[in-house]
Amino acid sequence: MKKFFALLIAALVLVTAPVHAEISTVKTADNAADIAGESAEKFYATLPKAKGDYKSRVRPILLEGAMNTETEIFVRALKNPVVYKDLNYLFVAGTYKNYPVVVVRTEQGMANAAASTALAIKKFNPIAVINQGTAGGQDPALKIGDIVIGTKSIPFLAIKTAHSPKGAGADLTNQEIRGTYAYDVASGKFQPYKEYFSDTTLFNIAFKVANTHKNFNAVSGIIASSDAWLNTIDYIYFLHEKYGTTCEEMETAAAAQICQNADIPFIGIRVLSDNVTNNDKYIPESATIVQDFVLLVVENYIHDILKK
Ligand code: 5AD
Repeated sequence: MKKFFALLIAALVLVTAPVHAEISTVKTADNAADIAGESAEKFYATLPKAKGDYKSRVRPILLEGAMNTETEIFVRALKNPVVYKDLNYLFVAGTYKNYPVVVVRTEQGMANAAASTALAIKKFNPIAVINQGTAGGQDPALKIGDIVIGTKSIPFLAIKTAHSPKGAGADLTNQEIRGTYAYDVASGKFQPYKEYFSDTTLFNIAFKVANTHKNFNAVSGIIASSDAWLNTIDYIYFLHEKYGTTCEEMETAAAAQICQNADIPFIGIRVLSDNVTNNDKYIPESATIVQDFVLLVVENYIHDILKK
């Protein structure tokens, strides 16, 4: 009899146990990007350090990347590079195509992107800001190396969730974006922004570059920003469907927020380094592709807009 009940309970447990798809444990980031960026670190250490404040007759273009791998191509492309440091963020000023350009290594994440962008605005007074780097795909149609020209970015974790009672589970899909607070000239106040639109001139130039340089596979899309790296595929699809997001990363919407405060034209442009929706694993070296693309955007922006 005892055996019968034990079997019955075991059978019930089996039947009622939730059927989970395979859930792997969380692995935090490996140091693949750090290893890939070692050559840049050594190169940056050889560059001359600035004496005194930055002075330029012409307002520079500011190029942002979070890591060594996301800035190295830019810094190597600068003529007469000079290093500035502030709060331990690295800024390298020089010229590209005879035009002043400043590269900032923002470091990873939203707070670093905001802080280093604010410092760069105060130190260099840029005419335009391009935030670029790697991203994870939220669209299964995109593969590693594809470029996303941001129409806008969304601070996708600045949310308010619907009320649900204790014990109801942690479904975060019943939510609305609250936004992040940036200065709005019309009202003269900080207002919540649910999305930050790219500057149309910068967007049109990037679009033109994509059309004339077919070696890049570039699409326009919406960049989802937060300090999170998502591997929960259902949540990624939820974002993709609800907000139309194309890729996720950790800096764009924060840098855009600060540029909104300062009323400086801004665009985010990203390359896919990974895409969990189609099982593409992280390749940090993909960062070179988007820098090559952005240098063409810079060249065209100087030629078509700034030197006109
Ligand atoms: N999710 C979030 N950030 C990513 N990055 C690359 N892939 C992803 C991803 N799937 C970028 C971020 C950050 C660093 C981890 O690389 O912008 O700087």
